[in-house]
Amino acid sequence: MNLLKRLTYKSRKHYDDDFDWDNYTDDSYHRRIQNDIETEFLAIARPGDLNFDGETGKLIAKGAKLHPNHETILEVIGQLQPQSVHEIGCGGGDHVSNARVVFPHIDTTGSDRGASQIELARKRHPELADSYSIADATMPFSRHWTQADLVYSQAVIMHIHTAVSHFVALSNMFALAKKYVFLMENLQCHNFVSEIRSLHEGGHIHWDELHIHQFEGSSGVKGILCSRELLDYPLIDSDADLRNGLKYSKRRIKRANEDSARGIFGPKRG
Ligand SMILES: C[S@@+](CC[C@H](N)C(=O)[O-])C[C@H]1O[C@@H](n2cnc3c(N)ncnc32)[C@H](O)[C@@H]1O
Repeated sequence: MNLLKRLTYKSRKHYDDDFDWDNYTDDSYHRRIQNDIETEFLAIARPGDLNFDGETGKLIAKGAKLHPNHETILEVIGQLQPQSVHEIGCGGGDHVSNARVVFPHIDTTGSDRGASQIELARKRHPELADSYSIADATMPFSRHWTQADLVYSQAVIMHIHTAVSHFVALSNMFALAKKYVFLMENLQCHNFVSEIRSLHEGGHIHWDELHIHQFEGSSGVKGILCSRELLDYPLIDSDADLRNGLKYSKRRIKRANEDSARGIFGPKRG
C-alpha cells in the first residue's frame, strides 16, 4: 500500500444501516405507523375484518384495506398454510397479530433487535406479549431463536448495509426456516437473488435444495419466495427479471452492488 493509501485507509468509507435502530421507534417508526399506515390502511385487524379465500388465494377485507405489502404477507401464509410462521424484524408486531387473527390455527411469532420495538409490539398487542422476542438477526446463529416452517421479513434486510451483516441475516433466516423463506423487501436495495444463490453455493445456506420463486400478491406487489421443494409459482432467474417494471433507482442499485462486492463466499461444493 503506498503512503497516500495508508494515510487515507483510516478514514475509509464505513457502511451503515439506514437507521440508528436504538432510537428508531421514537425517531421514526412510531410516527410513520401513525401517519402513513393508520391514516390510510387497516393496521390492526380484529376478528371478522379479514378473510382468506382458499379458492382464489386472496385476502378479502371487509371495510378498510390493508397496505398491499401487508396483504401480500397474509396471502403467502394463506396459500402455503405452514404450521408456524416467524417474522424477523417484526417492529410494532401488527403482521404477527393480523396473521393470528386470519389464521388462528397457525403459530405466529416475531422477533426484533430493538427493545423499544418489542415494547411497542407488546403495547399494541398485549394478548400476544409472549409471541414477541428480542433477537438481532445479524448476530451469529443462536439455537435458542424461534424456528418456524415459514420465516419472513418485511422492510428489514433492505435497510441493513453494515459490512456483511445482511448476508448473515439472510443466512440466519434460512437456518431458522424449516420450509420457506419469504422476503417482502425493496427489491433494488440488495441483489437478493444472486446473493441468495451465492450463499447457497458457498454453503452458508444449509438447505440441500433451494428454489427461488416470485410471489405476486393480489395487489401486484412482488416478493421473493424461497423453498426447499419446487412450488407452483414462477421461478426467478435473476435480480434484473425481478426488477422488471420497477422505477429504476441508480443510488439503490449502486449501493446494492457495493454490498454484494463485500461478500466472500465459501467454496462451492465439488
Ligand atoms: C422498517 S422497520 C419494519 C418493521 C416491521 N417489519 C413492519 O413492517 O412494520 C425495520 C425493522 O427491522 C428491525 N431490525 C433492523 N435490524 C435488525 C436486525 N439485525 N435483527 C432484527 N431486527 C432488525 C428494526 O428494529 C425495525 O423494527
